[in-house]
Amino acid sequence: MRATTLPGPRARAVIERDRAILSPSYTRTYPLVVERGEGATVVDVDGNRFLDFSAGIAVVATGHCHPRVVEAIQKQAAQLIHMSGTDFYYPNMVELAEKLARTAPGGAPRRVFVGNSGAEAVECALKLARYATGRDKFVAFLGAFHGRTLGALSLTASKPVQRRGFGPLMPGVYHVPYPYCYRCPYGRTPETCATECAQAIDTLFRTVLPPGEVAGVVLEPVQGEGGYVVPPRKFFDELQRVVHAHGILLIADEVQCGMGRTGRMWASEHFELAPDILTVAKGIASGMPLGATVARAELMSWPPGAHASTFGGNPVSCAAALVTLELLEEGLIENASRMGARLMDRLREWPGRFPCVGDVRGLGLMIGIELVRDQATKEKAPDLRDRVLQKAFERGLLVLGAGDSTVRLCPPLTITREQADFAVETLEACLRA
Ligand SMILES: Cc1ncc(COP(=O)(O)O)c(C=O)c1O
Repeated sequence: MRATTLPGPRARAVIERDRAILSPSYTRTYPLVVERGEGATVVDVDGNRFLDFSAGIAVVATGHCHPRVVEAIQKQAAQLIHMSGTDFYYPNMVELAEKLARTAPGGAPRRVFVGNSGAEAVECALKLARYATGRDKFVAFLGAFHGRTLGALSLTASKPVQRRGFGPLMPGVYHVPYPYCYRCPYGRTPETCATECAQAIDTLFRTVLPPGEVAGVVLEPVQGEGGYVVPPRKFFDELQRVVHAHGILLIADEVQCGMGRTGRMWASEHFELAPDILTVAKGIASGMPLGATVARAELMSWPPGAHASTFGGNPVSCAAALVTLELLEEGLIENASRMGARLMDRLREWPGRFPCVGDVRGLGLMIGIELVRDQATKEKAPDLRDRVLQKAFERGLLVLGAGDSTVRLCPPLTITREQADFAVETLEACLRA
């Protein structure tokens, strides 16, 4: 619902001040200045309402300001805001770790480190993998995004701007192609795929990288920033065979695809992937800052002082995470699966209806719509994609891009049928326009 032209006068004033004072390194897709949010709706400072299919970059799993999340935060804030899990104990950090350990894919007993963000969860995973194996090298995938701190950035291979000017990065990171079947790096189709992407790691091991020096292979089970790319099941089978053959740890970064987004608690579950180390953040605490690294218990054998964080596992964030987990298990994961299927039923037809839609893919409420100039050549269409994001904003729908040419749908897991249908109809109108 539009109250003003976009951006409205109040939004324009904030944007002007923002431009003068904040780091210009942020990427703002369109001029949205948010004042409040409820469920899957946000309202800007001029009173314009939007349906939020970005969920604050796949974060507000339970919707904006879910009443039970707000209540848990308020109650905890009135009781204890901070004590530091680095030096002291408090009950809800333990309770959260127990719950995460219980749900983690792979089954074996787990231990948990609690930090503040996705990048911190990845940093912990890297340090732990080195510590536990006594090896120092890593394999990661092209298109990956694992964060922007220097260790995590060394794995990130999504866009050159994220790395340019920041080198030298952590040495000993080798990148191989991700199984991006629509643009198969080996020219295969899903039928003729011989899991070359997993075998590329074997090739590294036979040529430049002694496998005995490799601590871990790090991957997103569904690639996020790289374009919402879902690999075929057989890739994971082959990958697990390769890493197990060499005693290498498998590190699944579920910062974006975890916490129920794909219709299962963990995306790994879709592929029977049993990671040694799992990284979690984004959706975990419905918008409060929290990240976690969940590892096989015997790997986390480092001594006191080896790794910690002043703010990590803040009691208010833990309270929000505990109620988030409850809400996910009480029905939101199921809703993600149902609403994802409803969206896909309609989106699947788009390549046949719109010449600019090359591919539609996803799991649950993690859906990518890849736009192209030409379906035959698959030439990417980043300008067109950006115009679609802008037009959707003007029509009251918030969606973000991913990869070079993909529209990503990652709404709160609370969306209704009506909201799913509004999103589809709005995007159809944008594509027609
Ligand atoms: C898969 C993945 N890992 C790590 C990160 C980094 O998380 P944060 O921005 O919380 O540091 C992101 C952020 O988008 C992500 O998508």
